[in-house]
Amino acid sequence: MASLLRTAGRARSVLARTNTQATSRRAPIAVQRRYASAAAAAVADSGEQSFFPDEPRAPTVQTAIPGPESKKAIERLSKVFDTRSLNMMADYSRSYGNYIADLDGNVLLDVYAQIASIPVGYNNASLQLAATSPEMASALINRPALGNFPQHDWADILEKGILSVAPKGLNQVFTSQSGSDANELAYKAAFMWKRQQQRGGPDAEFSAEDISSSMNNKAPGAPDLSILSFKSGFHGRLFGSLSTTRSKPIHKIDIPAFDWPQAPFPSLKYPLEDHAAENAKEEQRCLDETERIIKEWHAPPAAVIIEPIQSEGGDNHASPNFFRGLRELTKKLNVLFIVDEVQTGVGATGKFWAHEHWGLSSPPDMVTFSKKAQTAGYYFGNNDLRPNKPYRQFNTWMGDPARAILFRAIVQEIERLDLVNSTAATGTHLFGGLKRLAERYPKEIQNLRGQGQGTFIAWDSPRRDEVLKKAKGQGVNIGGSGDVAVRLRPMLIFQKHHADLLLERLEKVFQS
Ligand SMILES: Cc1ncc(COP(=O)(O)O)c(C=O)c1O
Repeated sequence: MASLLRTAGRARSVLARTNTQATSRRAPIAVQRRYASAAAAAVADSGEQSFFPDEPRAPTVQTAIPGPESKKAIERLSKVFDTRSLNMMADYSRSYGNYIADLDGNVLLDVYAQIASIPVGYNNASLQLAATSPEMASALINRPALGNFPQHDWADILEKGILSVAPKGLNQVFTSQSGSDANELAYKAAFMWKRQQQRGGPDAEFSAEDISSSMNNKAPGAPDLSILSFKSGFHGRLFGSLSTTRSKPIHKIDIPAFDWPQAPFPSLKYPLEDHAAENAKEEQRCLDETERIIKEWHAPPAAVIIEPIQSEGGDNHASPNFFRGLRELTKKLNVLFIVDEVQTGVGATGKFWAHEHWGLSSPPDMVTFSKKAQTAGYYFGNNDLRPNKPYRQFNTWMGDPARAILFRAIVQEIERLDLVNSTAATGTHLFGGLKRLAERYPKEIQNLRGQGQGTFIAWDSPRRDEVLKKAKGQGVNIGGSGDVAVRLRPMLIFQKHHADLLLERLEKVFQS
């Protein structure tokens, strides 16, 4: 570990040299010095070696949030950009490690991390090196249309990055722009796979009717097939993905949708150990209902899509047994099994992919990813999931080498610092602390969930929005999900001393 941190230190000093001018223009030297000296003390206090040795020791709250400078900036932005969903106006030049800064001198411990999307810290030195490399500059200014003109080292970038962490059994990838895009591409692959089977294999030609009806958006060319998703699930906001999203009406109202089925997702009772039999029954009910829907829905599902932990929909969990049952069901009914790891993927659950917790007998057919990967796409292993002709699964960019290079650097950083195991250990520590807090404040922390799932932890709060607001006043940026859940989505560099700080600040919120 010590040598790893020394390497990070070297990377950081190069970064410091290259970035001095830009940083000092915006961040007062005093602020930078304060970070450096305070962080040294933090390491000594906790006895834990910090991944970001010169991170702030604790949050700083100097004004109400938003403060006067932020208010001015928000007002200006509002004239040209919709700011009604704005959470806080950030200053990324002053943000570092687990800490996000604003324009008023406030520096918050960030356990929301750009909606679960920052893996290895703000202004991470290793990523700065990757971002300022000649290779990155070329990828940015010579962006290839990957389907037509892939760059000569695209295989290398994929193999050393995205594919080096591919879920077991899946050895190919189709890259994309966002989580929604990744899911939609996976749906298209599923439909083409299903129709190819119905036609009699990859060599069977399209019929004249397929060809003409497709141009009229009618079957059989545009077939009456569907994707089955689960109640409260979230899979994105583009047209196809939105049809499988079932979290909140506000995302869906006014948007035409496919008539696709939804199955019930288990509604588990907590603590799990006190409700084992009841929960097992509930999961079996959901599996039975899923089977019935797949068999009876008027537009047969080509695939089932599910999140390992329903995230936007309120942090809803199900047991490995449920997911194993679903995998078996999809195999039995010849329906593809797509696991949406857009939010759960890349380490946060204490495994690189959350579905590794399940012990499946065979891998999912496709696994979609985005967020912490910074790039996006779907993994697959079965060659039949490659359409039988070129241009059937295609778009201009088909991903982005710049983002794939960044993910390669993220993967290297995760491996260098052993961040998945670290997240598992931090999660255990944090969950224990939350459990103790829940005993003292049973009204504030209800249905605590995520034990053994790294830092992917949540609970229900009857005054959730107030808690999130007050947390900012205590120097912590936390997000919610669903109607009443407080969800923790810290970065993979979130350590035990951060967890202790979070627990301490949460207690103050509960007392207020
Ligand atoms: C599980 C899941 N799938 C898909 C998406 C959509 O990803 P994006 O917002 O990048 O389109 C999200 C976004 O929150 C998500 O959490």
